[in-house]
Amino acid sequence: MFLLVSSFALAASLFFSTTSAAINPYSAGYPSPWASGGLGWDEAFIKAKEFVAGLTLVEKVNLTTGTGWEADRCVGVTGSVPRLEFRGLCLQDGPLGIRYTTFSRRLMRLRGEAMGSEFRDKGIDVQLGPAAGPLGRVPQGGRNWEGFSPDPYLTGVAMVETIQGIQSRGVIACAKHYILNEQEHFRNSISVKIDDRTLHELYLWPFADSVRAGVGSIMCSYNKVEAIYSCENNWTTNYILKNELSFQGFVVSDWGAQKTTLGSALNGLDMAMPGGPFSPTPGPYSGAIWGGLLTEAVLRGDVPQWRLDDMVVRIMAAYFKVHTGNYTTRPDINFSSWEKKAEGYLHPSSKSSWGVVNDFVNVQRDHAKLIREIGAKSVVLLKNSNSALPLKKPASIAVVGRDAQDDPLGPNACVERACINATVAMGWGSGTAEFPYLISPSTALKARAAADGTAFISTVGNWNLDEAQAVAQNASVAIVFATAHAGEDFVAVDGNKGDRNNLTLWDNGDALIRAVAAVNNNTMVVLHTAGPVVLDYAKAHPNVTAILWAGYPGQESGNGLADVLYGNVNPQGRSPFTWGKSVEEYGAQLLFTAPDPRNPTQSFDEGVFIDYRHFQKAGISPVWEFGFGLSYTTFEYSSLKIVGHTADDTFTPAQVVNEGLTDPAPTFGTLDRSISANIPPVGFKKIWPYVYSWLSGPNVTIAQNTAAVTPATNGSEQRVLPASGAPGGNPRLYDTMYTVTVDIKNTGPAQGTEIPQLYVQLGGEENPWGVLRGFDDVTLAPGETKPVKFELTRRDISNWNSTSQNWEIWSKQKFVFVGSSSSRIRLNATLPTPPGMVWS
Ligand code: BGC
Repeated sequence: MFLLVSSFALAASLFFSTTSAAINPYSAGYPSPWASGGLGWDEAFIKAKEFVAGLTLVEKVNLTTGTGWEADRCVGVTGSVPRLEFRGLCLQDGPLGIRYTTFSRRLMRLRGEAMGSEFRDKGIDVQLGPAAGPLGRVPQGGRNWEGFSPDPYLTGVAMVETIQGIQSRGVIACAKHYILNEQEHFRNSISVKIDDRTLHELYLWPFADSVRAGVGSIMCSYNKVEAIYSCENNWTTNYILKNELSFQGFVVSDWGAQKTTLGSALNGLDMAMPGGPFSPTPGPYSGAIWGGLLTEAVLRGDVPQWRLDDMVVRIMAAYFKVHTGNYTTRPDINFSSWEKKAEGYLHPSSKSSWGVVNDFVNVQRDHAKLIREIGAKSVVLLKNSNSALPLKKPASIAVVGRDAQDDPLGPNACVERACINATVAMGWGSGTAEFPYLISPSTALKARAAADGTAFISTVGNWNLDEAQAVAQNASVAIVFATAHAGEDFVAVDGNKGDRNNLTLWDNGDALIRAVAAVNNNTMVVLHTAGPVVLDYAKAHPNVTAILWAGYPGQESGNGLADVLYGNVNPQGRSPFTWGKSVEEYGAQLLFTAPDPRNPTQSFDEGVFIDYRHFQKAGISPVWEFGFGLSYTTFEYSSLKIVGHTADDTFTPAQVVNEGLTDPAPTFGTLDRSISANIPPVGFKKIWPYVYSWLSGPNVTIAQNTAAVTPATNGSEQRVLPASGAPGGNPRLYDTMYTVTVDIKNTGPAQGTEIPQLYVQLGGEENPWGVLRGFDDVTLAPGETKPVKFELTRRDISNWNSTSQNWEIWSKQKFVFVGSSSSRIRLNATLPTPPGMVWS
């Protein structure tokens, strides 16, 4: 073992100090923290303050409230400021359907940039993605595919790269769904019980990364946390997100997740979407919870001016933050979410203003190339017996299964992608996009076969196993395609209400694989599934020579797959989750039924032990482990070195002005509080059910709230939490404490990319055997060796202490493991102790 430790001048004191008085995080959030700039926000913050100071009360409220469901062309549009020719902000789905298994930061970033450019050119201000919630607590989670991985570190890295990519193109990213929205069943009512440590170390982690990366908006989720709806939750929004993580952007509700006017305003919501209910109700406010009702609440004094100003400053700071450099102007909205034809209603909910709603601006550039590259480099090669792959001009190929085929009615025939009539390349629900085209595996493989002089035959065969066998039995290679689909709860597919009911293949897929393998000893399996399926039988079957997980690859599906099958791309995808032999093996389970379906409750008792952390603790060998994936070449690891660094101990939290206190809440501009200033101008014709921010009319009476200032409305200086200080939390958490290096050598016959992974064992029973804390992608020619460097931050080796409400380096002995997956560890070493500490 090979340790090199350099000098440590660092005192770990910050992490051992307890705060003077114990904090109760459930009640300590009030008042909702006001934005103050810092870490990349200062310039935007100055512009936002200036802009907001010039707005009237109604104009301010306009920016906080959507105009209603299907009221304008985007899935959500805020009110506007016509006087300043400032159109409302356009919010549009979604995180997009390509799931990452590349473990490649470069591709994550490029994908974010490509999406950002496309969204911008459509006139979109806020892209409703990426998603870090669900994280993936349970493998059947219907929306897991919209995010990245049940590992918080991997998801955190993917969030950062995606957010920075999107925002670098002048579009605000939206990290969603905050927080603990881990399943679709009961998503609108479920209450999650969770301990503070698990929240911090698992589910909050990627959101902290997102905040540190400067994300402009965060979407609060449908579910409740500790019995309180997430969009009015003092603990999760005020206390954690806005104080501890010092989030400077705005919190937007998931669509319809806002519940009450004051509850949401005082607990940190900044923007209500879509603004009105899905079924508008009669009356001046069309059933909106904000809009005119928020104006009333401000005039009454129930919501202080500083809170409203803070909402708008946050929204406008996010706006100015992304509108810099080449992106100071924004294109007009040139598409409709509700209409496919060129013309339609500009305001569909009120059936008004007929005109051109779709300009069909082609925003695709050459993104097909990138989508193909990501598709290919995301394929995870799970099995490859006797180098069956790559294919070398086989005499004949049989392609079997509906999941390989084109939909004769077109790639978007399936509304919301909620069916399995043809190859599956995206999950279903709001996270989908319309395919411009879709290259099916069958189309791509047929073309390749024609070029090679390979005989090609293809069949659906899922429910006609005789036909499948007849087609497959004489082929040099038989490739069986299978799927298991998932999506959002508003559509059920084959009885699966968003979440998958089980981990088996759909559409008779398991029987199809068995039938083909029974007659062809070179059977390969390609999976387009939303997550893991039970496939131990195929792994063990001698006639199944290769298994590939292609995830949801998007429009270039067939081309990317062919690149891997034929070796044009050497597979480098790694599994972002664990593959078990049954759903029970995963420990944490989905809640399908509740004794009282109106009040379903779920306790995340498994703590931080989900996915591979659970399998390791329970001593279960998975079928394939987290981080696993084969290559057409082999790699050797050597020379593990660890160097400790001196970290700066002089940090002062950015917000702290005076002994841990913030400035008092600022207000911007003076509000005209007269009724006449806040009603529609004479002659203005409202269209129902469009949501407006004016008071209902001149006769409205506003009773002044004369009650004393409450903790929620108190705008005096506030205490900054010990773990806070800048966006993402205390910046010192992100200091590099160790640099770990290893050498990787390509010892096989082909050029290839290895994904070395670094796991840290934090020590003690409370901690998993190992947690991912680093990865890289390194491309090597045969015989070539390159060093790979990982940086371990203070947060990477810390645990959350719920009592001190801070991160601490526990004194348990810690180990570093470097390997090619979570269980294929090639090198390990003890982590040297920081100065002043002794590992116990
Ligand atoms: C989903 C969000 C989505 C929103 C707007 C909601 O049902 O949960 O992810 O962004 O709708 O379509």
